[in-house]
Amino acid sequence: MVNAIIILCAYIIGSIPSGLWIGKIFYKMDIREHGSGNLGGTNSFRVLGKKAGLAVTILDILKGTAATLLPLIPYFSETQIHPLILGAVAVVGHMFPIFASFRGGKAVATSGGVLLGYAWPLFIILIIGFFISLKITKIVSLSSMIVSIIGVIYSIIYAFLTGDYSLLVLVIILASFIFYRHRANIKRIKDGTEPKVKWL
Ligand code: G3P
Repeated sequence: MVNAIIILCAYIIGSIPSGLWIGKIFYKMDIREHGSGNLGGTNSFRVLGKKAGLAVTILDILKGTAATLLPLIPYFSETQIHPLILGAVAVVGHMFPIFASFRGGKAVATSGGVLLGYAWPLFIILIIGFFISLKITKIVSLSSMIVSIIGVIYSIIYAFLTGDYSLLVLVIILASFIFYRHRANIKRIKDGTEPKVKWL
């Protein structure tokens, strides 16, 4: 029973559509009808501005972190569900949120939050890698995909050195989610029509 409830909690946490709710409550806007139509931090920056974009990004990161930390709650201490599975479930909730007609984000920030909760050195490396990539390419979606590849490379080395393959399996799953959810971005990057950031 505890296992089922903790998985449900991870999904519900991931389902919180911060971009949709912040847009509707504070800006009277549905960000799904503007910009890229995505519910994530990037589109919140684009449509609602810096403050909202930062708030949505931080909240989306924290969803992943909170899900991986659920077993620390005394009621859940008996669970056999691995924290990384809870993180992956939160990312599924973020992509297919019950509170937003199952039309959610592209898995990037919440995946980062899972790593912050479980493997913070990798999170730091990926944040640095993201901004270096963004400085060079000026494209958020491309930078998101580049850091997911960096995450896989890091996890291969980690698995080789420690014999622990759980992080590698999770990171491959998250990277697959990220590439799958960026199909339209990949097409725009190929066509040269993907928007570039101007502030970096
Ligand atoms: O986090 C999602 C980002 O990589 C791309 O977002 O709105 O440009 O499709 P967007």
